[in-house]
Amino acid sequence: MSKKLQLDLDSVLAEAWRLVQLGATDRNSAFHLPTVATVTRDGMPNLRTVVLRGADPDRRSLRFHTDRRSAKFEELGQISQYALHVYDPAIQTQIRLSGTGEIHHDDIEAKSAWDGSAAMSRLCYAAPDGPGAVVPAPPAAPRLEDVAEGAGYENFCAVILHVDRLEWLHLAASGHQRARFVWDASGNRSGEWLAP
Ligand SMILES: Cc1cc2nc3c(=O)[nH]c(=O)nc-3n(C[C@H](O)[C@H](O)[C@H](O)COP(=O)(O)O)c2cc1C
Repeated sequence: MSKKLQLDLDSVLAEAWRLVQLGATDRNSAFHLPTVATVTRDGMPNLRTVVLRGADPDRRSLRFHTDRRSAKFEELGQISQYALHVYDPAIQTQIRLSGTGEIHHDDIEAKSAWDGSAAMSRLCYAAPDGPGAVVPAPPAAPRLEDVAEGAGYENFCAVILHVDRLEWLHLAASGHQRARFVWDASGNRSGEWLAP
């Protein structure tokens, strides 16, 4: 990104969405593996890596997949405000996204996400022990040949985040650049520079 572009809020936002969108398709992008934050039942912060499966800048939506047996499923259901974070050291850029989330299980969105997933990705949802279950020893990975077609779908969820806040921080020797974009309920956007 040129210095000129970095000084233009519209260009910063377009670049932020380009990076996020790339993360949904390019497994080598740092944005492929965002950190998702939730709040536990006890009010404690909780973080974990997920694979970014979809990003739609026009709708300002992101999608990742998870297992309804996991702790995050309960946490995501409890408080519908989610936050994601990525830092890409290659371009010294951090993006923080937050907004309202929704969990899709056994509905059109979930089915479409399931159908669009690779067989290997679906496999973990067919594991007999859900994420976080106490086991006597690390279990062997489920094998494609051992599971029936469609197995695991009952545990599969597509999680959609509708972004209403995006924060950009780009580190540069010439001066760090931080910008915040907020969308109101009508979709009107405000954007401003912040001190880094
Ligand atoms: C590289 C990487 C990718 C991951 N992708 C996902 C994912 O897409 N969905 C998911 O639920 N967990 C994913 N995990 C596992 C989570 O980080 C986490 O360990 C697990 O989901 C249990 O989290 P929870 O107990 O907070 O629910 C991934 C972990 C790593 C290291």
